[in-house]
Amino acid sequence: MDQGKRYLLTGASSGIGAALARELAGKGYDLALAARREDSLHLLAAELQARFGRKALVLPLDVTDYAACQDAVGLAANALGGLDGIIANAGIALNGKVGGGHFERARLTLETNLIGAIACLDAACALFRQQGHGHLVAVASVAGKRGLPYAATYSASKAGLIAYLQGARAELRGKGIDTSLILPGFIDTPLNREMPKRPFLIDVERGAALIARHIERRHASAYVPGWPWAILGRLLPLLPTALVAKF
Ligand SMILES: NC(=O)c1ccc[n+]([C@@H]2O[C@H](COP(=O)([O-])OP(=O)(O)OC[C@H]3O[C@@H](n4cnc5c(N)ncnc54)[C@H](OP(=O)(O)O)[C@@H]3O)[C@@H](O)[C@H]2O)c1
Repeated sequence: MDQGKRYLLTGASSGIGAALARELAGKGYDLALAARREDSLHLLAAELQARFGRKALVLPLDVTDYAACQDAVGLAANALGGLDGIIANAGIALNGKVGGGHFERARLTLETNLIGAIACLDAACALFRQQGHGHLVAVASVAGKRGLPYAATYSASKAGLIAYLQGARAELRGKGIDTSLILPGFIDTPLNREMPKRPFLIDVERGAALIARHIERRHASAYVPGWPWAILGRLLPLLPTALVAKF
């Protein structure tokens, strides 16, 4: 068993999560694969075991069931023989106009992307504090750097996640627990396939390879891909509203 490479990954049934699972298993990680679609997780787990000979636990989980998020951490640690990190990646993008009668979509977006992510990160961090080491990874978004039109709640959920991880990082300084904030631009997945525009789109394998590298190196924060998002992400908060309104 490789020490330091036992991770719980949420949102593993599709898109970035599934591709990241392949990348990490290829680098020797043992994984607990969490999501609601159990069939997809079983297929992925079988693939990881066959291709890479790694442990892959199927962990059915709805991250809006916050008690289940707590349990998932214990189940993952038991099955993998310990837990070294967690990647809070599960997310949805149910966009809609502000005031357009979409409050339920907004609520579910916040419950999944923000509260669900915090539920998982918090539960894992309790274990990491006990053991004196661990790695908290959150997949946020460039959209969290500025509130975007027709994605106001999605932006709010990711801005909240960015602030949460920044707070955690400051609090955990010197305690042996690292944090990594991942800020993707547009990566080709089912989450955004219906969107009319996806500037600077990259394929999911490339996105996952970049994210895996940032996780391996325990980078504090990383735009994915770095170009052009490291520049655009920093510019976004400074742009005039009239310009942002045209997005
Ligand atoms: N693709 C991009 O361009 C992009 C850009 C910035 C940020 N992101 C972020 O990257 C993350 C992954 O997104 P993706 O693009 O890979 O989208 P995706 O292909 O739609 O995958 C989303 C994953 O989240 C899981 N999920 C959703 N709701 C869940 C819930 N309540 N409980 C447990 N799992 C849940 C889904 O699994 P089940 O449906 O099986 O539960 C699925 O595995 C998200 O947080 C997203 O906001 C993506």
